[in-house]
Amino acid sequence: MRMVDLIMKKREGKALTKEEIAFLVQGYVKGEIPDYQVSAFLMAVCFQGMTEEETFALTHEITISGDVVDLSPIEGVKVDKHSTGGVGDKTTLIAAPLAAACGVKIAKMSGRGLGHTGGTVDKLEAIPGMKMNLNREDFFQAVRDTGLAVIGQSGNLTPADKKLYALRDVTATVESIPLIASSIMGKKLAAGSDGIVLDVKTGSGAFMKTKEDAKDLALEMVKIGENAGKRMVALITNMDVPLGNAIGNSLEVIEAVQVLQGNGPEDLTFVATELAANMVYLAGKGTLEACRKQVKEAIDNGTGLERLAAMVSAQGGQAEVIRNTALFVKAPLEKNILARESGYLISMDTEQIGRASCILGAGREKKEDSIDYSAGILIHKKTGQAVKEGEVLATLYTSKEETFTEAEYCYLKALVFSEEKPQESPLIYERIALEKDDKS
Ligand code: URA
Repeated sequence: MRMVDLIMKKREGKALTKEEIAFLVQGYVKGEIPDYQVSAFLMAVCFQGMTEEETFALTHEITISGDVVDLSPIEGVKVDKHSTGGVGDKTTLIAAPLAAACGVKIAKMSGRGLGHTGGTVDKLEAIPGMKMNLNREDFFQAVRDTGLAVIGQSGNLTPADKKLYALRDVTATVESIPLIASSIMGKKLAAGSDGIVLDVKTGSGAFMKTKEDAKDLALEMVKIGENAGKRMVALITNMDVPLGNAIGNSLEVIEAVQVLQGNGPEDLTFVATELAANMVYLAGKGTLEACRKQVKEAIDNGTGLERLAAMVSAQGGQAEVIRNTALFVKAPLEKNILARESGYLISMDTEQIGRASCILGAGREKKEDSIDYSAGILIHKKTGQAVKEGEVLATLYTSKEETFTEAEYCYLKALVFSEEKPQESPLIYERIALEKDDKS
């Protein structure tokens, strides 16, 4: 087999066989096929797409390129959750403990934030003492003891994805549905859970800017998972507005705790509890409606919050900060952003708002950048609300005074005002599941 023939075949829009895809991925990981040939292939995929069979074969090769976690030593149904990334998205910190409180086992590997989006690992590291790199035995034991553990991705998981993703990043080949679907699902399948709930975000703060693309991506990923024998659900959720009111690591943990205490913002509570209910549902705990009730009870009786505190303790973190969030270190500097005009806030460029939070120190532009856990933004006015000139739109938090000007500029540039109240958009556009079950 010659790589040049595979590039030509894809360039002409023909489908590769699974043997050809195996040759390509394995050859690339071993260093036998050079970057320039794989780049040409990836660009051909961007133009020509891939069939379902090809996407499945690519996902499989990514999954088996490194360690595949065997979660069978942990009793019970293991369910994972994955978000395609957003701003203010702290749903894992809420949905995972709620699902664990309803009897689901969650052995989850999460990522760090990059660019304008946040990452669960960074958020959890805002809790003093929290260890995100447990070895396999400690990870499994934590799940057995408390029902859940969330750690960073282990060293040798999906090396093919690491290489391919880095190459896509610098060859303008990230935005391809089969490439994104195989990258995400390759990692999720290697992580070993029985069921996976996908939160596919769409809108100005998301990777998928249109609902149509988000739906195509969600369907593709659900099919890959089902084909691999997993139970799958995807929710297409709104990322035209930040989720909840807090952006930034400690601020987001505090807001997640508020939701678990039953007094968090409505939008975040709704999306996080729907994700949790779908996790409980995939674990076979009843109809979706029955699972929603169980999740609500886990908020009302405090067992969800207890699970989060137990997970933090099991991973070496100070659970006191979960029970009393006033103990979180506060940013030394804060500044209110005031409205310069009156009217309805009709849209928020959520990617820009994520950027403003990074400028304050809450995120990183490059992998090696360090994070200021107390930095971020508390939003006081969101899309659809009426605002009077001089009212506080948001409060910025940082340790670096010099960041305020640029962050405020970036934040204000993201907002659009009008005299007319905008129509409300749904928080969840669609639920995608191939299984026809559901007496919900
Ligand atoms: N996230 C991933 O893990 N892979 C992609 O290709 C895009 C987003």
